Amino acid sequence: MFDVNTILKDFPILKKQVNGKPLVYFDNGATTQKPKTVIDCISKYYSEQNANIHRGVHTLSREATILFEEARKTVAHFINADENEIVFTSGTTDSINMVAGGFPFEKGSEIIITEMEHHSNILPWQLWCERNKGKLKIIPIHADGTLKIEELKDLISINTALIAVTHVSNTLGIINPVEEIVLIAKQHNIPVLIDGAQSVPHQKVDVKELDADFFVFSAHKLYAPTGVGVLWMKKKWMNSLQLTKAGGGTIKTVTFERTEYVEGPSKFEPGTPNIEGVLGLAEAIKYIDRVGMDNISKHEHTLLKYATECLNEFPEVEIYGNTTNKAAVISFNVKGAHPFDVGTLLDKYGVAVRTGHHCTQPLMSHFGIPGTVRVSFGMYNSIEEINIFIEALKKSIKMLS
Ligand code: ALA
Repeated sequence: MFDVNTILKDFPILKKQVNGKPLVYFDNGATTQKPKTVIDCISKYYSEQNANIHRGVHTLSREATILFEEARKTVAHFINADENEIVFTSGTTDSINMVAGGFPFEKGSEIIITEMEHHSNILPWQLWCERNKGKLKIIPIHADGTLKIEELKDLISINTALIAVTHVSNTLGIINPVEEIVLIAKQHNIPVLIDGAQSVPHQKVDVKELDADFFVFSAHKLYAPTGVGVLWMKKKWMNSLQLTKAGGGTIKTVTFERTEYVEGPSKFEPGTPNIEGVLGLAEAIKYIDRVGMDNISKHEHTLLKYATECLNEFPEVEIYGNTTNKAAVISFNVKGAHPFDVGTLLDKYGVAVRTGHHCTQPLMSHFGIPGTVRVSFGMYNSIEEINIFIEALKKSIKMLS
């Protein structure tokens, strides 16, 4: 049975006091806290298992290699993928850059993204367009923040090479109709990349069902360590996605004239990888599986609904993306107050929120604001914490008015 108090005990940092108050951590969209099993797994790796992988005949190296490849299977299972389709990267940003740099675009190709993308799903494509006379096309959003999906068909042309969309907006929490986007893309034979950084922590993801070409996410937003991410791609891309980085651990033979690369994910993982991070990711997934993703989603939706209702009671508060099909993220502003001031005051009450443009400046321009206050929930957050946050917000608004 899902019990938030039991879960809370598994996360050591959540016992912390901040500014003399119990920590209320509502910045899970930026990064999540880590359960003790993940922390212990990393400690165990360095205390008992540390060796370089894929390189040694000695026992420790062979054991570390087995652990690393087992982790790949765990990650694959988590998103219903084949283990040979899972490439470990340093994070979502790295994964998207690898696709942007290695995709077999033709000069003058067009790439379609949305108005709500994180900078990490804008800049790599923009760079490619600048260097190759390409064109970035944008699916706009409605006033409530939802996607004007009806405009996608008109944006597609014979030059459209790729559609890259976020699954869940990091700023608004809105869940995009990625299934519909993939269907439309398929009618035109256009590959799709889905940025899953903000979806995998909140809902079950099945890459076979989604049927996109690329799906990327970061470990640290999934209760796992920083510095690790995943680039899932359909098998056919393993051969046609060009390498953007090369080095040790990726080859069969090397001469000064020519190199023959291995096949499969290792080809895209040059150099010694973040071994402890990958093991930590697998451990975090095992933890999530024990709690149950359905339970996590249900719990977070209760929190989202309650917090939205509480915030809607404030006449001074404006929520951006105030719709129903959302992950556990709420962006808002207090009329007449800068988000930094609201965030700084909330911090005095021990409430950690994110403030600013959330790496989505074009989205901020759409709303005509410099930034928002963002609360984003994780599995360990509770109704009691929302009550603390709401009381802190009341006091903060009083101080600011
Ligand atoms: N992309 C992360 C966020 O939305 C850092 O906060």
